[in-house]
Amino acid sequence: MSDIHIRCAGLSDIERVLEFWREAAEGTSVSDDHDGVARLVGTDPEALLLAERDGLIAGSVIAGFDGWRCHLYRLAVHPAHRRQGIGTALLAAAEERFARLGGRRMDAMVLQDNVRAHAAWQATGYRPQEEWRRWVKPLAG
Ligand SMILES: CC(C)(COP(=O)(O)OP(=O)(O)OC[C@H]1O[C@@H](n2cnc3c(N)ncnc32)[C@H](O)[C@@H]1OP(=O)(O)O)[C@@H](O)C(=O)NCCC(=O)NCCS
Repeated sequence: MSDIHIRCAGLSDIERVLEFWREAAEGTSVSDDHDGVARLVGTDPEALLLAERDGLIAGSVIAGFDGWRCHLYRLAVHPAHRRQGIGTALLAAAEERFARLGGRRMDAMVLQDNVRAHAAWQATGYRPQEEWRRWVKPLAG
């Protein structure tokens, strides 16, 4: 783990991040494109955290704080680097950021059948809230 470096992503990382997500992330997001990530980084330059090993992206998480809630998205570790604590280290870095900003509780959307992810979230102290469901409506483009 001492060879893992966690830093904030910048605009120049976008294409590499998208490529990394295609390989490592679970599913896709409506914002998974150049404009989507550029908007994130432009709005909050400290939200997208990358874990690097030997200059290559080994993991990512988006630690988004809107002044009210702390949301985690796109937690992903490259298949070749899993079970080495990188996911845990990224969540710890996100937690540090949220604490600095005055956040109070973190949340993540986790697919019901993503059992591997359940184990990882659980191991770092997260628990499901069964009484909630996400309600969504797309914005007309
Ligand atoms: C989920 C994910 C980010 C975990 O990353 P990671 O770097 O492998 O996680 P860590 O090494 O920090 O694991 C911490 C603990 O979580 C649990 N855990 C992680 N992966 C696990 C697995 N495949 N099976 C069982 N437990 C697991 C273990 O308790 C582990 O501790 P241990 O290795 O000492 O037993 C990674 O598997 C991944 O990228 N998955 C695909 C994308 C994804 O599903 N992201 C989550 C979206 S909600």
